[in-house]
Amino acid sequence: MFPKRYASSRRYLPHSHEQAVLLAKGRPPLPRLSGSDVCPWAYTGNRRHPTEKAVTLLAAQIETFCPAGGLVLDPFCGSGSTLRAAQSVGRSYLGIELDARHYETAIRRILM
Ligand SMILES: C[S@@+](CC[C@H](N)C(=O)[O-])C[C@H]1O[C@@H](n2cnc3c(N)ncnc32)[C@H](O)[C@@H]1O
Repeated sequence: MFPKRYASSRRYLPHSHEQAVLLAKGRPPLPRLSGSDVCPWAYTGNRRHPTEKAVTLLAAQIETFCPAGGLVLDPFCGSGSTLRAAQSVGRSYLGIELDARHYETAIRRILM
């Protein structure tokens, strides 16, 4: 869970956090290092995407949970933050994005 300093929308309650789902296939060994399930993060400013995640935060999660030589799949990759994070820690990556504008942003970011 990633708490936000702001509410991205509001219904019965303000929406003040983002969630990530960690899935593991089988029973892989526990990671050597892992932090809390509540991760502080720096707000990106959402300049590239309305729900843009912080690359540094994602990179730390990828390093912890994806072995060297592993593949990171983000089937809803938006502006490509996860792909950029995977790239920064030397993992292979595969992204899927529906929106052509976000797809272009992601491509630009990983080619930078
Ligand atoms: C929460 S955003 C991801 C933001 C991303 N983590 C970032 O930092 O930019 C989810 C993305 O999933 C895309 N999306 C929604 N449905 C999809 C689908 N069926 N296939 C691929 N992408 C989809 C949306 O266009 C949106 O950009």
